[in-house]
Parts: sequence; C-alpha cells; structure tokens
Amino acid sequence: MLLKEIKNIFHDELGKTYPKEEIDSFFYRCIEHYLKLERFILAIQPELVLTKEEEQPLFEALSQLKQEMPLQYILGTAHFMDLELHVNGAVLIPRPETEELVEWILEDCQTKKKNLDAERSRSVISTTLNDHSLRILDIGTGSGCIAIALAKHLPHAKVYAVDVSERALEVARENARLNQVDITFLKNDILAPELELELDIIVSNPPYVRELEKEEMKNNVKDHEPSLALFVSDGDPLVFYRAIAQFGRTRLKEGGSLYLEINQYLGEETKALLKAHNFSEIELRKDIFGNDRMLKAQQKWTSNKK
Ligand SMILES: C[S@@+](CC[C@H](N)C(=O)[O-])C[C@H]1O[C@@H](n2cnc3c(N)ncnc32)[C@H](O)[C@@H]1O
Repeated sequence: MLLKEIKNIFHDELGKTYPKEEIDSFFYRCIEHYLKLERFILAIQPELVLTKEEEQPLFEALSQLKQEMPLQYILGTAHFMDLELHVNGAVLIPRPETEELVEWILEDCQTKKKNLDAERSRSVISTTLNDHSLRILDIGTGSGCIAIALAKHLPHAKVYAVDVSERALEVARENARLNQVDITFLKNDILAPELELELDIIVSNPPYVRELEKEEMKNNVKDHEPSLALFVSDGDPLVFYRAIAQFGRTRLKEGGSLYLEINQYLGEETKALLKAHNFSEIELRKDIFGNDRMLKAQQKWTSNKK
C-alpha cells in the first residue's frame, strides 16, 4: 500500500476523536518510530510503497489509537526535557508543565552556585549549598522523569526517589540505567513515610486531580493513565501536600527548598497549607498555559520544626 494512503486511513479512522494536526503528529511519529522515516518523506517520495511487513505496526498502532490509548504507551517511549524515557501503563506520561518545575529548580541551583562562587571569591568561607553536597528527594517519581533530569543536570548531587508503586519503580530504575544516572530508588508511602534523610531539596508532583474534575479530562488520560498517579478524593484533595509539608518540616535542612506541582484550581489553598506548616518565602508560579501550577517554599533558617 502507498504510505500516503495509510496516512489517509489514519485521518479517516481517527478524525472523529482527534484534531487533524494531532493525527498528523501521530502518523509521523509512528513512521519515524517503526520505519525510521523522516516526516518530510512524503514530500520527497509521494508514491512510496510499503511492504505488508512495514504496514503491520502502523495498523496495530492505529487500532490502539482508536481505543484512545496514548501514543507514548503504544510506542513505549516519551520525551522529558532532553531525555528519552520508557513508559508503560504503570507510570504517568511526563508532562511539559513538570519540565517547567524542574527548570525552576535548576535555575535556582544555578543562581545559588553563582552567589556562592562570588562569596568564595571575596572570602575563604565554605557553605553547604553547592552541587557537590546537594541531597534531593523526588516524591512520587513515576517514570523517574524529575529525578533523572535533576541527576543529569546536577551530576554531583545525591538524588533519592520514592514511589508507592513497585511497577512504577521498575520503570524508573530502567530509565535511570538508560540515561546513565545514579539514583537511590525506594519504595515508600508518603502518607506514612519511613525515610531517614536530611535534604536540601524536596520535589514532588503528587496525585492532585479531584474526582469532580474527571469530567474535564480526555478519555485517553482517564481511561489509560494510572489512577494511583492522578486522583485524590474531593473531600481531601490536598492530602499529599499535607503529608509532604509535614515530612518536609522534619527532613529539610534549614534554608532547604520544597518544589511542588499543584492543582491549578487549588493554588491559594495549597499556598495557605504551606504557610500553616511554617514554610517561608512561598512563591506560586503559573505554567506556560497561564494556570497556577507550581509552588516553591523554604524551610525557615531559624526553624522551629514541629
Ligand atoms: C502525578 S504522578 C507523578 C509521576 C512523575 N513524578 C511525573 O511527574 O511524571 C504521582 C506519582 O505518585 C505516586 N504515588 C501515589 N500515591 C503515593 C504514595 N502514597 N506514596 C508515594 N508515591 C505515591 C504514583 O504512583 C505516581 O507515580
């Protein structure tokens, strides 16, 4: 069959579910993944014919796309910043908003390093905050995207990552191996943590979607991505943030930072929760789509940890 005919079949079969641009993107990513063909191939070879063997994975992918399976699960791979990661139904597909959270941490580390270098050039003091001594914990690591990106960009930091799901941890460990970073993965329930760590940075993108928000979600997310990674009860939507704040109060060093991805509708409530837990310098940021999406807070220098 001609490649362009297969492209038309993708549009015919998926047109009711997805916009045209997204179908084009599915098609091109499939031919790139399965056949190693560049997306401009049809411009150069409009009459390109595929063998039955070459067609087969494209039609298999199409059949899964019709069931609204996310393309990343079909191909088994997703991109996060400059990383390629394996994904399967046990882990959330990494989102661009989460990249912004990691970028925030990296910017802050860069700024702290510059200040430290400037201080060092003025005197001989040494301080604790440099890449060499940073201890970072990612809570609810899923595919490992946050922890791996931080370990890659802060190669001297000691990075820990926890998840309650053993299947997710398997994926994260495999991704750390593929991306050649050293991370300590631990199975732990953040609602009842057993982690004796002293940390400079805690980062988390915990479950935060309320049941009442399910209606506004696309089928490919709510039917295929793990509920454990997504949902919280309507009655206590900040359950994870409370647990992380309590944990952070006792495990973050003085001046240490907490970075959280949050529910866009609960920005002020989540900020208030951190304030109630005695965190300081709380900053709420929007994502590229203009939604309240990230919070940063600091463990007070003269803390009264309780
Ligand atoms: C929103 S996903 C985030 C995954 C990944 N960090 C990311 O940003 O793509 C939340 C993660 O928290 C994990 N999780 C859910 N309940 C947990 C708990 N009680 N303790 C630790 N991790 C939990 C889920 O398994 C899931 O991997």
